[in-house]
Amino acid sequence: MKVLVTGGAGYIGSHTCVRLIENGHEIAVLDNLSNSNEKALQRVKSITGADFKFYKADLLDKEALNSVFSNERYDAVIHFAGLKAVGESVEIPLKYYANNVSGTINLCEAMKNNNVKKLVFSSSATVYGNPKSLPITEDFPVGATNPYGQTKLMIEYILKDLYLSDNSWDIALLRYFNPIGAHPSGLIGEDPRGIPNNLLPYISQVAVGRLPYLNVYGNDYDTPDGSGVRDYIHVIDLADGHIKAIDKLNANPGLVTYNLGTGNGFSVFEMIRAYEKASKRKIEYKIMPRRQGDIAACYANTDKAKNELGFQTLYGIDDMCESSWKWQEMNPNGYK
Ligand code: NAD
Ligand code: UFG
Repeated sequence: MKVLVTGGAGYIGSHTCVRLIENGHEIAVLDNLSNSNEKALQRVKSITGADFKFYKADLLDKEALNSVFSNERYDAVIHFAGLKAVGESVEIPLKYYANNVSGTINLCEAMKNNNVKKLVFSSSATVYGNPKSLPITEDFPVGATNPYGQTKLMIEYILKDLYLSDNSWDIALLRYFNPIGAHPSGLIGEDPRGIPNNLLPYISQVAVGRLPYLNVYGNDYDTPDGSGVRDYIHVIDLADGHIKAIDKLNANPGLVTYNLGTGNGFSVFEMIRAYEKASKRKIEYKIMPRRQGDIAACYANTDKAKNELGFQTLYGIDDMCESSWKWQEMNPNGYK
């Protein structure tokens, strides 16, 4: 299939581009590089030996979007492009709503005008808010606690309404848990701008000496060791979930929703120990108050993705930390 990947220069997008090509798909990438570097795409090309088109374009620019669609014919779109920093979304909500929600509406309009009706959307476990119990199944109540999460939820509703209005669309809403790790080559990985918000990029910058210590946000949660528990999934496994979703869309399923996680929860302290083992470096840390808006624990029930997509994760925590460390050690300043 020929797949247009929006946000393909970003962290999850670049890994998914590699796996799409390795699975025999043709790709084109659309990205405005607002949170990424074109070098990631050069490295996707060197890992796969494949060439593909890159459109430096913004989803808010309807004209640019239309020319991307009129230039080539796509069978499907995987839509990663979006802003994703929770804290920033609280400070500049309008930018988040405009970029994520309006950007997605523009994309769907361009798809509709060009009769491309297969779409995979990057949703998030954040749509479950503070879950009533664990593990989380796809039919849990949803409710976001910050503007970023609201954009994901709004887009889910918009795509559901779009499908109700025209059931010739096939749409997969993929709710990611916590993607970490990097390609085993060490050539592509997560390259956050500024101080990282997320645990793993923060730990890896402490390991490589860019940051002095990790702030552990709370050791008094109702979890086995008091620190927050999350479902970390290797970015390559997550990328493969998109290949499975593309296969599913070919079977004309309508609108489908899947959790993409491993089903296992790991605490902040367990992640520190796993990263120390992978990097052979000591991770200094300080216990800090809880971070506002954080929940104690979150992990997926993975049965639906397993049964309906045949999705099964292959990599464990050690692989995730080792590949993350390889990327960090080979690229101490990211793509710069
Ligand atoms: P990322 O920031 O690395 O990638 C997103 C890409 O989208 C970037 O390359 C950015 O330049 C591009 N982009 C943003 N706005 C754009 C616009 N208006 N037009 C064109 N390009 C635009 O983020 P990621 O971690 O790879 O996340 C990909 C998707 O998955 C996002 O939608 C994110 O919300 C979602 N997600 C991520 C996580 C996570 O923890 N990383 C968890 C759940 C969901
Ligand atoms: N944590 C720390 N110190 C840090 C960063 C995080 O102790 O410097 C802790 C958090 O308190 C939490 C755990 O590490 O217990 C994981 O935190 P992350 O920020 O890495 O991940 P979150 O689960 O909070 O959120 C992430 C994304 C969201 C997404 C969600 C579910 O940031 O956008 O996963 O996919 F919605």
